Parts: sequence; C-alpha cells; structure tokens
Amino acid sequence: MTQSGKGPLTRRQFGRFALSLGAASTLSGWMRASAIQTPEPALAPRVLVGGANSLRAHAEARGLLYGVAVDPALLDVEGMAAGETRDRYTLLVATQADILVAENAMKWAGLRPTADKFDFSLADRMMLFAGQTGKRVRGHNLCWHEGLPPWFKDSATKDNARQMLVAHIRTVAGRYRGQIHSWDVVNEAVEPADDRLDGLRKSPWLELVGPDYIELAFNTAAEADPQAKLTYNEFGIELDIPEQTEKRTQVLLLLRRLKARGVRIDAVGVQSHLQADGPQPGAGLVKFIEEVAKLGLEVFITEMDVNTRNVAGGPDQQDAAVALVYTNYLGLVLAQPTVRVLLTWGFTNAHSWLNNGMDPSNQRRDGSPQRPLPFDDKLKPTPVFLALRAALDKAQPAPSPAAARTEVPPSAAPSPAAPPTPTPNTPPPAAPVRLYEPFSVKGSPPAQPSSSGPSQ
Ligand code: G3I
Repeated sequence: MTQSGKGPLTRRQFGRFALSLGAASTLSGWMRASAIQTPEPALAPRVLVGGANSLRAHAEARGLLYGVAVDPALLDVEGMAAGETRDRYTLLVATQADILVAENAMKWAGLRPTADKFDFSLADRMMLFAGQTGKRVRGHNLCWHEGLPPWFKDSATKDNARQMLVAHIRTVAGRYRGQIHSWDVVNEAVEPADDRLDGLRKSPWLELVGPDYIELAFNTAAEADPQAKLTYNEFGIELDIPEQTEKRTQVLLLLRRLKARGVRIDAVGVQSHLQADGPQPGAGLVKFIEEVAKLGLEVFITEMDVNTRNVAGGPDQQDAAVALVYTNYLGLVLAQPTVRVLLTWGFTNAHSWLNNGMDPSNQRRDGSPQRPLPFDDKLKPTPVFLALRAALDKAQPAPSPAAARTEVPPSAAPSPAAPPTPTPNTPPPAAPVRLYEPFSVKGSPPAQPSSSGPSQ
C-alpha cells in the first residue's frame, strides 16, 4: 500500500482536507515520490476537482455513474477506517468515483495462487473500501482467456474444466453476493479472425468446455449472485473499420443466441480502449448500442482510456489529442439513454496499464509516458479531466428513475469509525443537452449518427 502523505489527519481534519480537494493547488503538493517525471500540464492553475466539481458529482447530476479501475493495494483502507488517511490516491478515488472495479485483483490470476487455493485479500480490500466510502463495485471478471494463473494450463483438462469454471464462479460471485453492481461474467469471447462460423475466439475455455461455456458461465453467475447485472464485456468493437464492424456483428449474434436460449444477460460492456490517432468511433457503434437496447440490455462503457503512443509532441499535445477523443466519444455514447455507466481504466496516468511497460508496442518513441487518463502522475487534473467533466454535463439525462430499478445500492460503511463521505455533493445544474458532435481527429471517417440515431 502506498502512503504518500506527511502524517495522519484527525477525523475532523479529514473532513476539512477532503473539502479542500476543490483546489488544484492542494493537489499539486500530492504524490511527491512519483516514478515518472513529466513537465507540468498546461491546465490553468486553479481547477476545482472536489465536491460539486468532481467527476462523480457531474455524473450523478445526469443520472450517470462514473467510475475507475483501481489497484486495491494502493488504497489506504486502514487510514480510511480510522478516519485518518491523507493518502492522495485514496482520497482522489473517494472523491471522484461512484463505482470501482479492480484492474486485476478479481481475475483468476489475482484470486487463484494455486489450483486449490483462493486468496481474496486484495479483492476484499477493495470491497472494504467500497463499504467505507459508499461506492458501487463492478466485478471483473469471471471467465476470460487471459488473466489466468500459470498453473491453469497444466491443471485444466477437458474432463475438469467445466467443473472448474462452475466452482470458480460459485465461489467468487457467491462470496460477494448482493454487493456487486455488475459482473463481467464473460470477457472478450468473440474473435472473427479465428475464423469460426460462430465468431467465437479459440480460447482455452472454448477448447476445454466447448462453445456452451458462455451460457454455462452466465447461468452459474445468475444463481450465485442474482442481484448483479450480468455483463458480456468486449474490446475492439468501437470503430467503423472492417474488423471491428464484423466483431460487432458477431457480438450481436452471440447476444441474440443467448437471449433466444433464455440465458439471463443484462448488459454489454464496451471497453473503449481508444487511440488518439487514426479512425474514431462513429455511426456503427451508435447502431450497435441501439441494437443492444432492442434486446433489453444496458450498455456500460467499462474501460475507457486513450492511447497516445503515436501522438507527436509533449504532454500538452498528448492532452489535447486525448481530450478531443473524450469529448467526441462521450458525446457519441452518452447521448444514448441506455448508457448510464462510464468507467475509465484507472484515473491517473502514472497507474495506467499503458505505462506499465508490459507491452512494448505501447511505448512512445520519445520514451515519455502516455497520458490516457484525467489525472496526471502527480494526481493533478489535466485538460482531459475538463473534457471528461464537460462531456458528462452534456450526457443524455436519465430517462426515468427506472434506470436504477434493480440495482444493488452503494455499499454501506461497515465500520462505525468510517470517515465522513468526502464529497459533499451539491450537484451542478444540468447543462443543456447537446447530443452529438462530429469528429475532427486526424484520420476519422466522416461519421454521422445513423438515421435512427440521436437527433439534435
Ligand atoms: O504484479 C505483477 C508483478 O508482481 C510481476 O513482477 C510482473 C511481471 O510479470 O507482473 C505483475 O503483474 C502484471 C499486472 O498486470 C500488474 O501490472 C501482470 O503480469 C500483467 O499480466 C497484468 O496485466 C493486466 C492485463 O489486463 C492482463 O490481466 C493489466 O494490468 C490490466 O490493465 C489489463 O486489463 C485488461 C482488462 O482486464 C480487459 N480488457 C483489456 C485491459 C487492458 O489490457
């Protein structure tokens, strides 16, 4: 766990400190020990980010949930419990997010050190923090071809894989039953390039269990946690380029097959790992969301970030390009009444997977870090923060209170020592709704909303 503050605050001081998050000058003192050095971003010195100025408050004002992927190891749960934290990462998560998802801690690899052991320590840590701060939680994920532990390939066989999948889902989803807003039950199961008639990816689960592994996973999750919204989560379905258009088609066909077989599925996650350069999402995605809505499913934007590996120039140029993508993309998807949940994959550039060095193709030619998210490595808001917040203000308002109909309520604080909620929300006034702005990112197709799409 990182504790980057100078010393503990008293409970009363915590309340004052949380309120003071409204000033970027306060934030600028944060995170002195940062591994990544970048020049200061080009934002005006006083950008208010706390309370009514937070992403969370602006999202809530439009009936949306804004959330972030977190590393639970970085959350100062003990400090929160004692009402004494001054850890900046922790406070910023508490201030900005309505909903959390563990970036890795709830994956098989995060939970299963050996074939016969579960380690829930990190996942429990996030659940505890969610309880302390009244956040909702997304579960990510129960079945994926990646994020599997090293022992899996030697232990899983055609004879035991079905039972392993069922047991895993019962154990994990069962442990957090009633506490999860939505589970990514199956992640990234479609891959048209694998050339199967059913469009499914040739994954270990497909090979070992067979194509019905998807409905097996959904049916098991439905039993294990009837309240969670059961989600199919997918990447590479945002653009109007042939591979992604085909993938959207195959995802829709999969959803229709599942519905036709009576499988309970409640939502589709559109991951939204976007690029700052090249083609941008447009009419095809809008049409997809409309088709998903016709099946009675919600759409969640589950993992948004913007890759800046090819953006020439320094931080300012990266931030400008990324801010434009956020503006345009959120203008597109948040105009859809079935899109009520938006998460970014992390919220600080320092903690983004795009900067973790695991994938060399994500490295920028000049060696500087990418800037895919609304806060920089010093936890200061960047122009991306402003673009994201402005896009939330323009979102389609919730159609009716029914949007929250069967939802799991935010977690209740489990401990009497829990600190006061750090965000006194006076929601900002709703901005007039502007539904769609055409793209102007270099390389964009001349995308327009479909004729049945949103109207101005
Ligand atoms: O923590 C260990 C460290 O102890 C070890 O020394 C190091 C070397 O192998 O690995 C570290 O774990 C890595 C972990 O990220 C934390 O950095 C894993 O190897 C690495 O596989 C893992 O990558 C994650 C990846 O999913 C695979 O699970 C990324 O953080 C995470 O951002 C990424 O998230 C995925 C979503 O789950 C699904 N959609 C796409 C998204 C981005 O790829």
